[in-house]
Amino acid sequence: MDKLIVEGGVPLHGRITVSGSKNAALPILMACLLAEGPVALSNVPRLRDIHTSLRLLDILGCETEFSGNEATSCVTNLSPEAPYDLVKTMRASVLCLGPLLARLGEARVALPGGCAIGARPVDLHLKGLERMGAEFELTEGYILGKSGRLKGAHITFDFPTVGGTENLLMAASLAEGETILENAAREPEVTDLANFLNAMGAKITGQGTSVLRVQGVEKLTGCSYRVMPDRIEAGTYLVAAAITGGELEVADCPFQELDAVSYKLREMGVWLEERDDHVLVRPEGRIRGVDVVTQPYPGFPTDMQAQLMALMCVADGTGSIEEKIFENRFMHVQELARLGANITLKGRMGIVRGVDQLVGAQVMASDLRASASLVLAGLAASGRTEISRIYHLDRGYEGIEDKLSGVGARIWREKE
Ligand code: EPU
Repeated sequence: MDKLIVEGGVPLHGRITVSGSKNAALPILMACLLAEGPVALSNVPRLRDIHTSLRLLDILGCETEFSGNEATSCVTNLSPEAPYDLVKTMRASVLCLGPLLARLGEARVALPGGCAIGARPVDLHLKGLERMGAEFELTEGYILGKSGRLKGAHITFDFPTVGGTENLLMAASLAEGETILENAAREPEVTDLANFLNAMGAKITGQGTSVLRVQGVEKLTGCSYRVMPDRIEAGTYLVAAAITGGELEVADCPFQELDAVSYKLREMGVWLEERDDHVLVRPEGRIRGVDVVTQPYPGFPTDMQAQLMALMCVADGTGSIEEKIFENRFMHVQELARLGANITLKGRMGIVRGVDQLVGAQVMASDLRASASLVLAGLAASGRTEISRIYHLDRGYEGIEDKLSGVGARIWREKE
């Protein structure tokens, strides 16, 4: 297993380029199951979860290739089974359920189970698909789904679930008649998936709103598509500039999709300016603590919560973070405390009292965004921080240590 070593205290300067979005690429790859004909994707980040998805596509009967940041997929002989070995390593595997039912009328997908950031059930995916005519049985740890051709339905989500909306959008694209999804997730990654499906011939309208309308079509064809840039990776680098007292040009930054984040960063005293092909970011004087509540898009993203908490750890005054999306997404708190942070947890609320200086220590990554927060805190800390279990980081940040060392950070990988 690898660990990351960070020698902090260096202000970052220079240009850093954002990669393609993990959370857009994952559902888009699963949507390739719907295509009759080859699909060519560009701006696909080279990440562990992407490799896992491509392996899953292979098992489900696609021929895939991945070279540089280009991935291709062509369905040859579809098979309905997504095995536990793959699903357990990546919850997003459950996104093959909608496409398999739409194409084959059957699916056997391992139940994803819990994960480090909470229970994360898939009941809303299943309820929606049932409304479209699918029937499910849970047996031996697998979801067994059967359906004829799926039928359009009017579905109102209890909660704007990102994965649920994506699964249903894919299923509805090949269903008979119209599907209306209300209280749908508005995340930009859902919009990117809808745009991709439309490029394959789907008829989806309402992208970016909470009501999506899908007119089912008989078939979808192959296409070429560029995956959107990763707003969470971009947000992480905005914080990296602020927390080190440096100045960065963050290129290919989806700034509009980061509205809630840039709003909070400005409130904290970070200066941000959108330029032609990048966002310029630097702190203006001391960073100040703020109050943040995570919400579905366009609210403040849960995926930026841990990174902003790292910044609050070195801010003037007190800030708070209320986590409303996941019930257990504060595992980074204990690790940040090892670096000298002063954080009190009260249920789903973290109260952060800023300290003058974090001090490097050995810490352990527990999930993807928690790992990012430890890297950020390590960049700000004096001395040496060693972050173990960084395989979490490799799931979501393409070449993070290369990108950060390119702008002056002292960060490298070692074998544990
Ligand atoms: N939920 C249910 N039932 C369901 C579905 C969701 O109760 O059927 C609950 C979940 O347990 C959770 C909340 O609803 O408490 C939100 O879940 P959602 O379905 O919106 O999230 P997701 O699709 O599982 C995606 C991202 C996450 C991101 C969330 C929220 C992907 C592959 N994952 O997860 O990304 O945090 O949306 O924005 O797109 C990450 O990248 O680090 C990450 C965890």
